[in-house]
Amino acid sequence: MTRRNAAFSSGAERALRAALHRHLPTSAGDERGLREALRQGADHPGKLVRGCAVLVAARHHGWPLRRAAQLAVAIEYFHTASLLLDDLPCMDDATVRRGRTCVHRLHGEATAILAALALINRAYALAHTALAAEPAAVRRRANALLDRALGVSGLVGGQALDLAFAGSTRSAAMVSRIAARKTGALFALAVLLPAELARPNRRERRALNALCVYWGQAYQIADDLADLSVERAAPEKTRGRDRQLARPNLGLALGAERAAARLVRLGHQAEQSWHTLEKLGPARWSHLRELNAALLQRHRCGVDLDYRAA
Ligand code: IPE
Ligand code: IPE
Ligand code: MG
Ligand code: MG
Repeated sequence: MTRRNAAFSSGAERALRAALHRHLPTSAGDERGLREALRQGADHPGKLVRGCAVLVAARHHGWPLRRAAQLAVAIEYFHTASLLLDDLPCMDDATVRRGRTCVHRLHGEATAILAALALINRAYALAHTALAAEPAAVRRRANALLDRALGVSGLVGGQALDLAFAGSTRSAAMVSRIAARKTGALFALAVLLPAELARPNRRERRALNALCVYWGQAYQIADDLADLSVERAAPEKTRGRDRQLARPNLGLALGAERAAARLVRLGHQAEQSWHTLEKLGPARWSHLRELNAALLQRHRCGVDLDYRAA
């Protein structure tokens, strides 16, 4: 079982875990490999950072638990689908994900691709259902956010640049640009989508956007440093692939010390953006404190790692 994120309330995480199973796009009678691949994702869902962020925010903005969980599950399904594809031999060729053997190694590449498609398909339907009762303006903005975060301007385009990185300038600036798309975009979705329910004003929108940028960059740097760290006995996922495959990694581009320093700086910048939001709408944005704490906890995991291998 993957480590739980202690910074989120156990209630939110329990509700999300149950909903991940409830909404799985599979039932008895489906092809066995596909069913098991989908179940593996729900049984071992990772840290649930993005989903918990959505669930807590949507609840905070007045949504009932059932609808908040639908939207949260949608974001987690998008994320899990991206990892199923990211682990394939044609991408990062990983063997371990969330402490388990990767789906494509257990059930074949075709099954991993189909499981990812099934999750993406269900995720769009869940997001649509969850938002159905919202005013047209909110639904329009939500649609635009989904399109921007998941499409070529976001996750898909970021992955394409990630895979082509070896032939690029390989600069630290390029690493950050790719992180903004492959990781930052989904963070932005997890924060900005539920924030739409509170109809943020222009200044709040600006502060929310800044917060997402800092969180997304920091999260990816922590992940980059973890990829370079000395292998533990039973790692949660395959490490060392960034160096082997010449993937973007800020620890490789800048050196681990400077990357870790940037991560700490991003944590401070996120804190400042959060304080701006707190001043603009103390009651409206107070729930983001929990997410900030969760992410800072994750960052500390990053800087505590052993970088001797970097
Ligand atoms: C992994 O994300 C991919 C990145 C964008 C760094 P997480 O570290 O949140 O993965 P899980 O969901 O907890 O497995
Ligand atoms: C994955 O980035 C980001 C997406 C799947 C969009 P990485 O390749 O760095 O993430 P891990 O290390 O495999 O989780
Ligand atoms: Mg990758
Ligand atoms: Mg990868």
